[in-house]
Amino acid sequence: MQENAYAHLKARLAATPRTWLVTGVAGFIGSNLLETLLRLDQRVVGLDNFSTGHRRNLIEVKALVPPRQWGNFRFIEGDIRNLEHCRSAMRFCAPGREGTATGLHPVDFVLHQAALGSVPRSLEDPIATHSVNISGFLNLLVAARDAQVRTFVYAASSSTYGDHPGLPKVEDRIGKPLSPYAVTKYANELYADVFHRCYGVHATGLRYFNVFGPRQDPNGAYAAVIPKWIAALLRHEAVYINGDGETSRDFCYVANAVQANLLAAASDHREEGSQVYNVAVGDRTTLATLFELLRDGLRPYGVAAGTEPVYRGFRAGDVRHSQADIGKAQRLLGYLPSHRIRDGLAEAMPWYVQMQRGTERLSTTGT
Ligand SMILES: NC(=O)c1ccc[n+]([C@@H]2O[C@H](COP(=O)([O-])OP(=O)(O)OC[C@H]3O[C@@H](n4cnc5c(N)ncnc54)[C@H](O)[C@@H]3O)[C@@H](O)[C@H]2O)c1
Repeated sequence: MQENAYAHLKARLAATPRTWLVTGVAGFIGSNLLETLLRLDQRVVGLDNFSTGHRRNLIEVKALVPPRQWGNFRFIEGDIRNLEHCRSAMRFCAPGREGTATGLHPVDFVLHQAALGSVPRSLEDPIATHSVNISGFLNLLVAARDAQVRTFVYAASSSTYGDHPGLPKVEDRIGKPLSPYAVTKYANELYADVFHRCYGVHATGLRYFNVFGPRQDPNGAYAAVIPKWIAALLRHEAVYINGDGETSRDFCYVANAVQANLLAAASDHREEGSQVYNVAVGDRTTLATLFELLRDGLRPYGVAAGTEPVYRGFRAGDVRHSQADIGKAQRLLGYLPSHRIRDGLAEAMPWYVQMQRGTERLSTTGT
């Protein structure tokens, strides 16, 4: 696979636009996929029920792309737990040409991101996580099968490695799941594989490892570590590290995840059955080091050099270490991460700061 597979693919797509369905389009990763696809002149159908995503993410993408490209986006407010909503998202109707053969484009590729994320949420409400992440997933897979989409790419998760001690993580060596969330993500892989065997659906899972970047929600009880810590540091509040600080993660900038999605959709490794790929960088950063990176990166924004974290107990369901072997995605997809953690943080920091300042402004004006 050539080194610049992604550049080639983007040129190919721009020359021959395709039709994509992005579920979870108002969420963090989904809205980043939307932005990249629209910039490449693709037609995009988006499906979301705003349960954890936000209208402001769509408004932000609208402001970032030219109106002509925004015109290639159709949004459906709907729920993946509803099969009819999933079916209705499998086609793109051009504005003003509804009901005509030339105005109707069946979806070529599905990028399925909609799910209830977060290990703690799944521990508190396993039924909600199950119904969205497993029943919703199954609905979408059935709708994609019936619509004969070319490729069904879905957000899998590094949580599937569970209690397997091996490092770095290699796709075919997994342990037992450590949380209800991990069970749902593993069940997705099983369903994808069975749909390939039984119905010939070409399904590819991307096991994301701690993705971060613009439009990742910093608020709420289930916020991910990077936006949560940045928000706390900017507010001069305590940053809590669960455990001894030596817990490690392979933090993956969202541009890398977007790249993996597009490469997986276009991949022609069809004959080998349904595949799963690690999507990360192959690095390992401890939580203590992450804290230092964030604190130092935020010094221009008034965070003091001497700021220290507060250590507390380990959190249930958390994997101790996580680091990906990305060799499979490199070999078979031509995946080449464009950003390591420092590059991603440098690129995303202004967004996180602006987001935090905006939240503060809203709370002080009482709106
Ligand atoms: N962010 C990460 O580090 C990470 C890591 C591993 C896996 N993942 C997976 O990647 C995907 C995207 O995650 P994210 O970080 O962008 O999360 P997110 O919460 O920002 O996005 C998920 C989106 O799905 C939508 N959604 C949820 N339930 C829905 C339903 N029933 N019907 C329609 N839409 C629904 C939400 O409103 C939201 O917009 C998820 O499947 C998640 O499990 C993320």
